[in-house]
Amino acid sequence: MAEFVRLQRHGAIALIVIDNPPVNALSQPVRQGLCQAFQAAEADPEVRAVTLVCAGNTFIAGADIKEFGQPPQAPSLPEVVSLIENSQTPSVAVIHGTALGGGLEVALGCHYRIARADARVGLPEVKLGLLPGAGGTQRLPRLAGVEQALEMIVGGQPIGAAEALEQHIVDQLFEGDPVEAGLAYAQRLLDEGRGPRRTGELSVPGTDSAELIAARHAEVARRTPGLFAPLRCIAAVEAATRLPLAEGLARERELFAECLDSPQRGALVHAFFAERQAGKIDDLAPGVEPRPIRTAAVIGGGTMGVGIALCFANAGVPVKLLEINEEALQRALQRARETYAASVRRGSLSEQAMEQRLALVKGVTDYAALADADLVIEAVFEDMAVKQQVFERLDAVCKPGAILASNTSSLDLNQIAAFTRRPEDVVGLHFFSPANVMRLLEVVRGEKTSQEVLATAMAIGKRLKKVAVVVGVCDGFVGNRMLFQYGREAEFLLEEGATPQQVDGALRTFGMAMGPFAVRDLSGLDIGQAIRKRQRAILPAQLEFPTVADRLCAAGMLGQKTGVGYYRYEPGNRTPLDNPALAPMLEAASREKGLERKTLDERYIVERCLFALVNEGAKILEEGIAQRASDIDVIYLNGYGFPAFRGGPMYYADSLGLDKVLARVRELHARCGDWWQPAPLLERLAAEGRTFSQWQAARLQSERSTRSAP
Ligand code: CAA
Repeated sequence: MAEFVRLQRHGAIALIVIDNPPVNALSQPVRQGLCQAFQAAEADPEVRAVTLVCAGNTFIAGADIKEFGQPPQAPSLPEVVSLIENSQTPSVAVIHGTALGGGLEVALGCHYRIARADARVGLPEVKLGLLPGAGGTQRLPRLAGVEQALEMIVGGQPIGAAEALEQHIVDQLFEGDPVEAGLAYAQRLLDEGRGPRRTGELSVPGTDSAELIAARHAEVARRTPGLFAPLRCIAAVEAATRLPLAEGLARERELFAECLDSPQRGALVHAFFAERQAGKIDDLAPGVEPRPIRTAAVIGGGTMGVGIALCFANAGVPVKLLEINEEALQRALQRARETYAASVRRGSLSEQAMEQRLALVKGVTDYAALADADLVIEAVFEDMAVKQQVFERLDAVCKPGAILASNTSSLDLNQIAAFTRRPEDVVGLHFFSPANVMRLLEVVRGEKTSQEVLATAMAIGKRLKKVAVVVGVCDGFVGNRMLFQYGREAEFLLEEGATPQQVDGALRTFGMAMGPFAVRDLSGLDIGQAIRKRQRAILPAQLEFPTVADRLCAAGMLGQKTGVGYYRYEPGNRTPLDNPALAPMLEAASREKGLERKTLDERYIVERCLFALVNEGAKILEEGIAQRASDIDVIYLNGYGFPAFRGGPMYYADSLGLDKVLARVRELHARCGDWWQPAPLLERLAAEGRTFSQWQAARLQSERSTRSAP
């Protein structure tokens, strides 16, 4: 029998233990081992009940995602689940940690289920562009009803054990050791003389689910129109409501195969692994351990500073918030309270949790109060002279070993580090606004940042439930440096003949959460103006800049905060309306550049903006500012509303073919000027017929062999 699955006898009970670290994924050897173990238990006349448990921290976390896209290997998961369900010996699945995807499907195949009180169960396949393909869409509605099944299968969010009990997904909760609890439950089954109880033999509760299904269908079509898997999830659940199990399973299989073949599945699986890879520091020496962080402090009580402080409070870490005087401090603390109060009003936070979290945030006005902090994050005005004052004071008061972090989004971290006598303890922690909501955290590695400090910064990211990505020092780091190129091209499109509505519409159809002009109106056009001024001062004079944004700023149209920007807004309403003052500005901008305004097609709009991202991304990669192409994808997926079903800008370019991307970049270079200088890496890979991801894999391989060379 495969070593991944063990079978032990405990009197009349067969204990089957899956042991496939780290998450007991259902790889082929596990599937085979499960079949053999259940068959052996069934064949043993002494065995009268089976208990299925997992070793380690969790029950099965799903199918082995690494196997997707590979040729199928028997036994398939549906076969395994059917074998378990059809067995004559009653079985109980003992869930601890998480039972996800194929893991929950195996549990649903067992005749009974118990879960540790802190366990979670779910069918998150939709997030990978799939649907539960091993009976989940047929068995879950039979236990929990159509509404709950749709919620879990189409939404993909796991639920806690208590809710799973309420929804009849599990039969009982337990505390403590899974093996003990599982054996005790199986013994009870024997004592009570209970036999197999097959989920597949139940009928779906409730009579008329057509309305529920139609409503969900309409909602999905409206909210996520470009997504392939959710509608197929609904179709599979619908099949459960009208077909007997065997036919329903066959329909589920067909729909699953359609999803498996969809390019969206490839992109979403890429996004899954890219996120896990991003947490790793490529050159981290063995044995480097993060420093313990028990207390934190944030300097600056503006929107960003307060948002960062709340991240720590949310993670249960006491945090001091420093402002320059009592009045500013009270404003900052009030802002913290209001942010939580909004969550309480929405129902996503209890009053009690709000008070507990606020109690962790202590306002201070004296730098001396920061002497005991393990980590201090500066979130003050983006001005080098101000940063200098802050870091010199921190250097004077903070204890040795404290990490001094800057939230700068564009200033030179090496220069900031040099204001202290401990540049090795200085790191950038670039949060995205609103900091307590956005998942992305760029961890900026300065020239002198120590490995220990970098490792600590990544560990902090994980603790704050952020997606932390290591980046190097350059203007704008990875995300904003690329965004500058993207936004500039969007502006040039306005001069060529497009309207903000057309550009935003084309990019939203592509899948971006928001169009670039709606984003600018939201964040305020004055912010971009400061960056543009700086760029104009430092970039080569022959580069032409777009001018529409300057015209809007000059007219005091700064976006939502002034009620008008690229769009016009009614008071108290964020719906973008036409700004009649814009058309003459567009005309003037085009005239000034000698351009005749033309109608632009959607594909041109999308390519012009996205390939600007890709070309800059390629430069960033070659300069070593990002560790990997997939890290750039993670940054765009988590910080900039890039659609996960397209995998991120670098994956998207790979999927189009880099030769096609380069051809367009060259054409734009010839027509639009030096902004479009093709990245040497893009030229090289296109010539070699390779992709960014192949380049990344080869580089990793060569680094590994260099490191392991004697
Ligand atoms: N297959 C293969 N590897 C997996 C995996 C899976 N299903 N789930 C996690 N892993 C790997 C991760 O890649 C990571 O590997 P590295 O350490 O080499 O990077 C490792 O397990 C640990 O994962 P995390 O860093 O994510 O650990 P965590 O403790 O933060 O989270 C988890 C654990 C909640 C299980 C999370 O990993 C997760 O959500 N996994 C995916 C679950 C999922 O989507 N399951 C459905 C699979 S599809 C399916 O089952 C289809 C079907 O019906 C046939």
